Amino acid sequence: MFRTKTCGELSIANVGETVTLAGWVQTVRKFGAITFVDLRDRYGITQLLFGEELNKDLEANPLGREFVLQATGTVTERSSKNKNIPTGEIEITLSSFMILNKSEVPPFKIEDDTDGGDDLRMKYRFLDLRRNPVKKNLELRYAVGRSTRNYLHENNFMDIETPFLIKSTPEGARDFVVPSRMNPGQFYALPQSPQTFKQLLMVSGYDRYYQIVKCFRDEDLRADRQPEFTQIDCEMCFVEQEDILNMFEGLVKRIFKDVKNIDYTEVVERMTWEEAMWQFGNDKPDIRFGMKLCNLKFPSHTFTTKESIADLITGEFGMFNDAETVIAIAVPGCAEYTRKQTDELAEWVKRPQIGMKGLVFIKCNADGTYKSSVDKFYTEDKLKAIADAAGAKAGDLVLILAGAEEKTRKATSDLRMELGKRLGLRKDNDFKLLWVLDFPLFEFALEDQDGGGAGRWVARHHPFTSPKPSDIDTMINNSPKVEDLEKYLEHPYANIKANAYDMVLNGNEIGGGSIRIFQKELQQKMFAALGMNEEEQQHKFGFLLGAFEYGAPPHGGLAFGFDRLCSILGGSESIRDFIAFPKNNSGRDVMIDAPSAIDAKQFDELQIKLDLK
Ligand code: AMO
Repeated sequence: MFRTKTCGELSIANVGETVTLAGWVQTVRKFGAITFVDLRDRYGITQLLFGEELNKDLEANPLGREFVLQATGTVTERSSKNKNIPTGEIEITLSSFMILNKSEVPPFKIEDDTDGGDDLRMKYRFLDLRRNPVKKNLELRYAVGRSTRNYLHENNFMDIETPFLIKSTPEGARDFVVPSRMNPGQFYALPQSPQTFKQLLMVSGYDRYYQIVKCFRDEDLRADRQPEFTQIDCEMCFVEQEDILNMFEGLVKRIFKDVKNIDYTEVVERMTWEEAMWQFGNDKPDIRFGMKLCNLKFPSHTFTTKESIADLITGEFGMFNDAETVIAIAVPGCAEYTRKQTDELAEWVKRPQIGMKGLVFIKCNADGTYKSSVDKFYTEDKLKAIADAAGAKAGDLVLILAGAEEKTRKATSDLRMELGKRLGLRKDNDFKLLWVLDFPLFEFALEDQDGGGAGRWVARHHPFTSPKPSDIDTMINNSPKVEDLEKYLEHPYANIKANAYDMVLNGNEIGGGSIRIFQKELQQKMFAALGMNEEEQQHKFGFLLGAFEYGAPPHGGLAFGFDRLCSILGGSESIRDFIAFPKNNSGRDVMIDAPSAIDAKQFDELQIKLDLK
């Protein structure tokens, strides 16, 4: 047998046994005539003792870091024990060993705290993967996958594979395309998701489908985006939105239990998209903490506080008067911030990424007085009224941003998240789930993805998402044409809501889905609303429209971002840490050096001539 035990399983109970281990040399420590070696495998580290005899062999064949070794010996109790590792009470007094392979000196330390920078570790990812923290991440990923499969299997879901060489599925990104040798001049697209296939499976009667599947999207990358990533993709038929929400919050709760041993017994909160935008300035709010946005300039809106607020901010202060919107947040317990601290916050919001002109503050002092950077424009009573509206208590600091609507809302949301972090309100291992519901059906794109086009409606989720039943008439009876681009918000389409939902975990969108359109006529109307004429509809989605003629059942589903879910459970912002072989921010795999040029012969076979612009 190659090995009888692993490097992680021996303890004091095994003393006296003869064992054979195999693994990689972590460290070599020479003490006079004897040598200690830490041997590592996937399961742990075990100390090997080379006595005087074997030491002589070592002198002839010195061991280096990452050499591959097979070693046989007796489990013995250590004289100086290491309480930090499970095998720390024993060592193996060797009787023989064999070097199975040598190793170059690795370019960085294969240790928890490595000296290797990001690029180097990615180039030698196979070495990086030997490190404990990376291994732990992949183990977590595996556990999430296993838990998912168990839950879905127990709930009658069937894992069905769908093809990768397909026709475009619109999910809002660009496609990766693959030329077809057998069909010169024609291209497959790699799926941005298996969306249309899972819908076809519903038409075929596989009423509960899932797949843990790769998706491919050519889009700008961020810490939580990869060009190829994995989804837990699901679809069900004969369901309503409520059934889907229940089924999949069940899945996430099960994952919490199996992977983190957390009993998530709370009711999963729900809010509409509109509420999320108004209260948090964001469609994926982190609800582990409050600090809700208080819009001081939109008194008519349902989610703002009293009508009278508009009166409160109108005054001598030009910045508030002129701004399209004015939003306040109450930061708990920060009234005692010094001038330096409030100045720093003002600088923070002025950074180009945030782009605000400045920051107004009101300190709600513990003694009931109010001090503000706009003291000279507002009486103390007014300051108190604004602070009250923002929900501030004695001891809190109210921060106010003013400017153009969208920008100000986003800036206040970013400021809220930043303060949440600084104040320790966004703790790892504190998980809060949220459903965001009733997203808009359409979004207005002033420019097409390719830079062309003079503005058109695009599907906010995807074109297969159904409108709320009460909004169907509005969609059918209005032309999508927008006469005045500046006023697109006044077009009836801007208010149409979708049967679409996102699941949010700690401020991250971990999944999203919708109840689908299943009638051919409505699907055609939807395509038309998105500016597709009949010919285009047939060309792009004829297969789906055709399938809808043969008994399509009502259906809906969702997909979770598997990498994202793993990274949040693992307490990391970057999904790359949870992918064995990720791409860097330029979409490159620096280890295998891809993408790369291909041979002239391959172009010939494809009948393609490269003519780069
Ligand atoms: P959506 O486009 O919202 O929905 O994707 C579902 C989830 O996938 C994750 N995700 C990503 N993760 C890493 N890198 C990316 N580039 C990336 N893009 C998306 C997100 C997101 O919530 N077909 C629909 C689902 C449906 O309607 O059933 C879809 O793909 O966590």
